[in-house]
Amino acid sequence: MSIRQPLLGLQLCDLTEACPRTGFTCGEGMLDDWFKKKALKRHQRRQVRVTTAHLSGNAAPAGFSALGVCTHPIADLTDERDKVGWDAVMFPACYLHFVAVHRTLQGRGIGTELLLSAITATYEVSKHVGVHGLVLTSLNQNKVTFYQRLGFGIIGRESGSPTMLLPIDSIVELVEGETSTAETLIESPVSAAQRS
Ligand SMILES: CC(C)(COP(=O)(O)OP(=O)(O)OC[C@H]1O[C@@H](n2cnc3c(N)ncnc32)[C@H](O)[C@@H]1OP(=O)(O)O)[C@@H](O)C(=O)NCCC(=O)NCCS
Repeated sequence: MSIRQPLLGLQLCDLTEACPRTGFTCGEGMLDDWFKKKALKRHQRRQVRVTTAHLSGNAAPAGFSALGVCTHPIADLTDERDKVGWDAVMFPACYLHFVAVHRTLQGRGIGTELLLSAITATYEVSKHVGVHGLVLTSLNQNKVTFYQRLGFGIIGRESGSPTMLLPIDSIVELVEGETSTAETLIESPVSAAQRS
């Protein structure tokens, strides 16, 4: 089942050679460079999976995300219950390398859509391979709230670029709709406006 109303007119696809990337700018040079120079090769080698977001009828990407896997120290988990059952030092997780939206299109819910797509992908992975959730590194402290509103929490030591985790239990609840608050939590204002 779908975990929310998708943004009208937004399509999410796998990155292809046909996707024009040269004009993309999100305002963070490192992310722009990676998207232009490395994304396609990494995607084709399946080192990461790159998803691009497109507004209807527009071949130019409005945003992109890059999803892979990682291992992370169990000692960094903040909830003691999460540490039970791992017979290892590290836990496995999906890892969101990047999420970025074109500078002129930010604030319309596109980043949230890309994040939800990574969460759904992690849910699908977890049906086949054991993972402890979705991990990412926030570029800086300012971006933390963007992730916290979907339930991500900071793990590990204090850092200018905090590591954040959405545990698999929360992902299952979000995707399977087991909590009545899930839709309120993840609904963007744009979606709400479009539905009314
Ligand atoms: C961060 C980013 C991906 C968010 O995408 P977006 O499409 O602008 O975000 P959304 O419209 O889905 O915003 C959803 C919510 O997050 C908040 N938010 C978005 N960007 C934020 C930021 N930089 N800091 C804090 N909150 C932010 C919005 O205010 C919104 O909250 P609201 O619904 O309560 O108003 C986008 O701004 C971006 O590409 N930034 C440059 C690249 C980058 O920093 N990527 C993240 C690396 S950690």
